[in-house]
Amino acid sequence: MTTRGSSSDVRRAGCAALKYLVFGARGQLGGDLVDAGIREDHEMVGLTQAKCDIRDARAVARWIGSVRPDAVINAAAWTRVDAAEDHEAEAEAVNATGAGVVAAACAEAGIRCCHVSTDYVFDGSASSPIPETAVAAPRSAYGRTKWHGEVAVRERCADHLIVRTSWLYGRQGPNFVLTMLRLGAERPQLRVVADQRGAPTWTGHLAPAVIRLLEVGPPGTYHLSNRGTTTWYDLAIAAIRARGLGAEVLPITTAEYPTPALRPAYSVLDNRAWRELGEPPLPEWTEGLRAYLATLDAGGPR
Ligand SMILES: NC(=O)c1ccc[n+]([C@@H]2O[C@H](COP(=O)([O-])OP(=O)(O)OC[C@H]3O[C@@H](n4cnc5c(N)ncnc54)[C@H](OP(=O)(O)O)[C@@H]3O)[C@@H](O)[C@H]2O)c1
Repeated sequence: MTTRGSSSDVRRAGCAALKYLVFGARGQLGGDLVDAGIREDHEMVGLTQAKCDIRDARAVARWIGSVRPDAVINAAAWTRVDAAEDHEAEAEAVNATGAGVVAAACAEAGIRCCHVSTDYVFDGSASSPIPETAVAAPRSAYGRTKWHGEVAVRERCADHLIVRTSWLYGRQGPNFVLTMLRLGAERPQLRVVADQRGAPTWTGHLAPAVIRLLEVGPPGTYHLSNRGTTTWYDLAIAAIRARGLGAEVLPITTAEYPTPALRPAYSVLDNRAWRELGEPPLPEWTEGLRAYLATLDAGGPR
């Protein structure tokens, strides 16, 4: 899909319209990236996996060669965290090898590569917001493959932006918020993990920040997440209460809800590099949740 913003000549100061190629455009974040770029009057070319598989170096180079974008955003990923434990090679092929393929094609074309990564590259042992410079130590197969992807992007394309985000939800999902709303309507009682702390982040807030970062950020690694912190338990309560559902939500520990993949107990990201650019922090996570539910009420993303 190729889409362009309005033909308005009014641009934000210093920001001429650019052309961006987005891999993973059918995903939660990819779809909002395309929309956010259009709102800024950029030309956005979004590709699904069916159009271009990022594991296919020739296809990636062909698309970049024919679209000739000013920059590429790679929001494509193998995102099934638990399934990755038994399918690490498949996850690695997309999250690491594919990420490297995209970065190498960007370097070859002489354009910027923006790559999306995750808080799950950290081990969860921190007790205060994690800066971009913290040492990665993933505890899950998914986290390892995403970390390998970061390494590949840094090695292959000097002009890279690596954006780590956390607890993402948006559009059609699948995501934790939609799961809680479904279960909260089906069941009288839910048990939700209350000892993992993070920053839920709405794609509708993250996407415009990524587009802005492409314009103003020097190469490097950036943490971008909604402000504030919470637990899955409190997020579930907030979503269920906002919808007026009567389900009782009970707090449980991670040990009481074992999953194939180990998750970090604490993965709040300090958005330090973003702040140092003089950019305003992303809104509070509660505001992200409110705005997401409003988009669902309005029938989906704009
Ligand atoms: N979800 C989270 O909680 C979370 C948290 C932190 C960071 N992240 C990161 O944020 C980014 C976006 O996540 P998301 O939740 O928006 O993901 P998502 O909704 O699962 O979308 C990922 C997209 O990747 C595409 N894709 C998968 N394999 C591909 C391949 N081989 N070639 C091309 N495209 C491929 C899929 O395309 P099709 O639909 O066309 O098959 C899918 O639409 C990812 O890098 C993820 O690791 C996510």
